[in-house]
Amino acid sequence: MTKKTIALLPGDGIGPEVTSVATSILKAACGAYDVEVETEEFLFGGCSYDEHGEPVTEETLDACLNSDAVLLGAVGGPKWDDLLSEHRPEAALLKLRKTLGTYTNLRPIKIYSALMGASSLKPEILEGTDILIVRELTGGIYFGKPRHTKEVDGDVVATDAMVYSKSEIERVARKAFEAAKKRNGRVCSVDKSNILDTSRLWRKTVSELSSDYPDIELTHMLVDNCAMQLVRNPKQFDVILTGNMFGDILSDEASMLTGSIGMLPSASIGDKTGLYEPVHGSAPDIAGQNKANPLAAIASAAMLCRYSLDLSNAAKNIETAIDEVLAAGYRSGDIYSGSDDETLLSTELMGEQVLKSLLKPESVAE
Ligand code: IPM
Ligand code: MN
Repeated sequence: MTKKTIALLPGDGIGPEVTSVATSILKAACGAYDVEVETEEFLFGGCSYDEHGEPVTEETLDACLNSDAVLLGAVGGPKWDDLLSEHRPEAALLKLRKTLGTYTNLRPIKIYSALMGASSLKPEILEGTDILIVRELTGGIYFGKPRHTKEVDGDVVATDAMVYSKSEIERVARKAFEAAKKRNGRVCSVDKSNILDTSRLWRKTVSELSSDYPDIELTHMLVDNCAMQLVRNPKQFDVILTGNMFGDILSDEASMLTGSIGMLPSASIGDKTGLYEPVHGSAPDIAGQNKANPLAAIASAAMLCRYSLDLSNAAKNIETAIDEVLAAGYRSGDIYSGSDDETLLSTELMGEQVLKSLLKPESVAE
């Protein structure tokens, strides 16, 4: 048995519910390949602020850095909305991403055929859609300096700076080109180069780098057009490469292609420990009710197996189990249409169905 240590940051709202389900599935999936997953849990986000007066402690950051991977639930909620920005739960997430150096955020948009009817788009528009959003995660307007709110001439003025260096763009663009090699060989780089200097540098850098990848077809698209194209004809995209804030917005939009943001996993990778989290937020309105969709967290655990544990078979087994559970008609509230062939399940029962499907002897890939 090989042992792997996973730092668990369940966080706030529905975070603990979905993380607990995802953890049991992670343990089972890895166990099938003789990898023992040991977890260490830490407060993170609003709950850490309540206990320690800060949304993440140095001890937690260190533990994450020293683990084999980090599995996170969600952070935030109305309770902490009025805190100073450095105390807000979201600040913990930015600090963690920066500490771990996870400059590449992978957000796959996979359409499950069983959920074709759950999206607000028509099935014929969705069919065949398979997108990977590669979002830059440790730079841009989320981290740029200066950042402040000041009184100026009797008015109040707030400033956030969008800053990108060539090297920051290059390293994430490489990840996008590499990912495209294993997919359909196309990268669409998204920017706002008709207005922004950072975007002009982005476009130039990505174009120059593309000569290292002669087999990859590179196109460029303005972000406003991309937002429109994602709902007009999502099939046209393979890998979408974009900056931090554009990627944040486009990935929420793209999540609706799958029917629910409750379906979208993410992996954040860089040079150190990888961080895995569902794209959805803490959903305070349904927190603690055993209603949340755990599939995004479970699919994030699959990405953890693939990118941090080198267990691509375990990853595939989890993904197949999700497919099977959906095909069998099991649904959480966010993807339930009420039709006769669907069964509405709680968070825990959905986890049990995935586990059952995972543990069938024939689901362990060699
Ligand atoms: C996400 C979230 C975060 C982000 C927030 C919670 C800081 O929306 O991961 O997409 O904006 O990156
Ligand atoms: Mn977001």
